[in-house]
Amino acid sequence: MTIKIAPSILSADFANLAKSIESVQGADLLHVDVMDGHFVPNITVGQPVVRSLRKTTDIPLDVHLMIDNPSLYIHDFAEAGSSVITVHAEASCHLHRIIQTIRDAGCSPGIALCPSTPTVMIKHVIHMVDLVLIMTVNPGFGGQVFIPETVTKIREVREIIDRTGRDIDLEVDGGINDITAPLAVKAGANVLVAGSYIFENDAPKKKVERLRNVCLPA
Ligand code: DX5
Ligand code: ZN
Repeated sequence: MTIKIAPSILSADFANLAKSIESVQGADLLHVDVMDGHFVPNITVGQPVVRSLRKTTDIPLDVHLMIDNPSLYIHDFAEAGSSVITVHAEASCHLHRIIQTIRDAGCSPGIALCPSTPTVMIKHVIHMVDLVLIMTVNPGFGGQVFIPETVTKIREVREIIDRTGRDIDLEVDGGINDITAPLAVKAGANVLVAGSYIFENDAPKKKVERLRNVCLPA
């Protein structure tokens, strides 16, 4: 299983985003956290930032929508240059339609689950997505502590994915560092989002490689 590293720009320097991105060259995805102050108690960035990032880097943009009414914004985020658009299962009762809209807009659809959301929520749409995102903290803020109980859930979702016979990424997001990443990968994750671990030090590029290396099979 190929491990992909997705630095989250939430912990980067927003006044120097181009420089921050330059500092993580070699990453597989760039994770962009979109928060609306409703679905989560925090506000971050929107389509204009995605559009500017698209011009700045060739790294695929992994856009994580933590917003209410995501269906209203899919076209905007697709047009801005998103590669993956992930919506929360808890944010809409029309998940099937939204996933189809993301696919029709030319992007890879992803579905995200908060720590308290059961895996049964993905059962009837799993065949339509390219990625499942398991929140390993409660969404809204960077720098939180990994919730150990989510490991069981990662394992469950890996089994669900394997049963489809499709190549679907299993992404983990929140509290990922060189201690928790191997736990998540062992349970079946293959895409690691990391914000504070990568950006809150003076060697982000080394942190990207360290994360990849600690997850290599022994
Ligand atoms: C939290 C966001 C994460 C956040 C992770 O709601 O979805 O992507 O940036 O930050 P760390 O890696 O610091 O826990
Ligand atoms: Zn995220």
